[in-house]
Amino acid sequence: SSNKQNSLQKFHMILQTALEFYSENIFKNKKALNYLEKRGLNENDIKRFKLGYAPENWDSLLENFKNKDYSNEDLIELGLIKRASTGNFFDVFRDRIIFPIYNKNQNIVGFGGRALDGESTAKYINSQESKVFNKSREVYGLVSRGEKIRKKGFVILMEGYMDVLSAHKNDFENAVASLGTAFTDEQAKLLKRYTNNIVISYDNDEAGKNALFRASYILKKHEFNVKCLFFPKGIKDPDEFFQSNDKKKFVELLKESVDIFEYMFSEFSYDIDIKTVEGKKIFIDRFKEFFANLQNRIEIDIYLDKLSEEL
Ligand code: UTP
Ligand code: MN
Ligand code: MN
Ligand code: MN
Ligand code: MN
Repeated sequence: SSNKQNSLQKFHMILQTALEFYSENIFKNKKALNYLEKRGLNENDIKRFKLGYAPENWDSLLENFKNKDYSNEDLIELGLIKRASTGNFFDVFRDRIIFPIYNKNQNIVGFGGRALDGESTAKYINSQESKVFNKSREVYGLVSRGEKIRKKGFVILMEGYMDVLSAHKNDFENAVASLGTAFTDEQAKLLKRYTNNIVISYDNDEAGKNALFRASYILKKHEFNVKCLFFPKGIKDPDEFFQSNDKKKFVELLKESVDIFEYMFSEFSYDIDIKTVEGKKIFIDRFKEFFANLQNRIEIDIYLDKLSEEL
């Protein structure tokens, strides 16, 4: 209904107003600017990616909204403020770099916030779910209504905010991140609007590897062509890669990226002897979930053929 439209519009406007506040503050805060500079982001980048800073005070955003026409209930709904047991309201994002999250229509739906130190508090916090923010339906870094992904012919899936920003800085504006949650069906459907091809570039650690498998199963369910990209030993994520490598190097890694099946083959066989019957049984069992999610008959045949050839 148009009533509902109006209230969604209102929430987007509140988030936009909050972002303006965070944006003004980043240029007033040396500590935040120094932090971003250390991470390779200059003033131009801050403007381009609309980064902000939430001040340390308990109520600076609250104060900013005081003379505006929005209720505290609205700010609570959006996860911008909370009510303490004392009854007082306080800002949720404090002393954090702010990353605005946009939906496919380029409306702000929420924020990510990174702590400057990362020891004393959670490294990242994200807006809670709200009437305009369903985490499992959004990705971070979706620009130009998906046009960049369409043009390149593929999307690159990363883990985090900083990974995506580094990729975009290096002209890979087809990179997105799944907002720190496990990759979901809805996110697959969203990306499917723009391409059938995905390259997963998750972190070079155990968590990243597990997430890669889980994302692949979902992507296969939605009939994506799935490749995976790997960094040289010692580089922990895309952001770290771009700190010491240029875009040509990344193009090389893209060229070397392998079909997910190929990667699974090597991962699933490294600790067993696939020459033995016992080994073959374990090996095939590890592919169960992969095959269970394949939709396309031809693809199933091709992968089955490959498996039997290798065995
Ligand atoms: P990572 O833990 O890989 O972030 O989480 P990172 O690469 O180390 O972050 P930097 O480089 O130190 O800044 C990847 C993503 O998972 C989500 C965030 O979206 C983050 O970008 N995350 C991570 C959270 O939501 N909360 C956390 O506490 C940590
Ligand atoms: Mn990680
Ligand atoms: Mn990481
Ligand atoms: Mn990182
Ligand atoms: Mn066959």
